[in-house]
Amino acid sequence: MTSTATTTKKLSVVPLRPEDIPRCVDIYLSAFSDNAHSLACFPRGAPAVRTFWEAMLREEMADPDAVFLKAVDAEDGEGEDEEEAAATRSEMELVAFAKWNRPKTRQEQHEQQDEEGEEEHEVQLPVWPAGADSQLCQSTFGEWARAHHRIMGDRPHWYLEMLATDPAHQGRGAGSRLLRYGCEQADRDGVEAYLEASPGGARMYHRHGFEEVGRHETDIRRRASATGGAEDGNGRGESYVNLYMIRQPSPTERSHQPSDT
Ligand SMILES: CC(C)(COP(=O)(O)OP(=O)(O)OC[C@H]1O[C@@H](n2cnc3c(N)ncnc32)[C@H](O)[C@@H]1OP(=O)(O)O)[C@@H](O)C(=O)NCCC(=O)NCCS
Repeated sequence: MTSTATTTKKLSVVPLRPEDIPRCVDIYLSAFSDNAHSLACFPRGAPAVRTFWEAMLREEMADPDAVFLKAVDAEDGEGEDEEEAAATRSEMELVAFAKWNRPKTRQEQHEQQDEEGEEEHEVQLPVWPAGADSQLCQSTFGEWARAHHRIMGDRPHWYLEMLATDPAHQGRGAGSRLLRYGCEQADRDGVEAYLEASPGGARMYHRHGFEEVGRHETDIRRRASATGGAEDGNGRGESYVNLYMIRQPSPTERSHQPSDT
């Protein structure tokens, strides 16, 4: 191997793989470590929390409508030879990940509605891990999912469900790159993009054209003390605000409506 190459850090966005899941859970747990809702729902000292997140990501990766992406930090060597380039690729560090969901056509929405019943959109929630504040998880994740359904109805849209960047790599553009991926797909399809914004993400989403269309407020302290959850005391006494946000598509040369059939 020659040593003439100069290296700079370069971010690339590529599909996430099942073997990346433990690293994603590390990133999630540290990225949301100052998020009152996440701490109350998923106490970091509870071993079942990590197992739960790993199993959930593994299951969701099998969903054909889910698009899991990672931003990797590769040494981009100028003048690298083949051997060096191969070594570089194997050492790429995962610094951020995201889960986008593709739009469902109106027909798929209607088929799903038929299965679930017309009356009230039923929300499927997981069994929460031991140590979690199950009541808080149930009420907040349940309400956010119902709001998603109320707000978007049967309009096809791209949905950003998860986004987290390793705190050591925040502010370098990884989050924006992963966000832009879905926005570009939505523009291409001529459809809206939807997300629920944590307090930490709202500013970045505004900058990328998302606008608030509703919000949900939760008293973390009252719920945590009422249920005995969040034993470590983190995140107590906060009113947690989750924003519902939509981005309208920008016209692109290739934009077209997805098939409704
Ligand atoms: C929100 C989050 C995903 C952003 O990820 P990120 O990788 O830091 O995002 P970016 O680097 O693209 O942008 C973050 C900020 O850094 C700035 N930035 C981007 N590239 C930059 C660069 N090269 N140099 C300096 N600043 C830069 C951006 O302008 C942005 O500023 P803003 O917040 O004022 O808009 C990350 O902070 C995170 O994981 N937070 C905790 C979890 C969370 O809240 N996730 C959102 C769930 S809804």
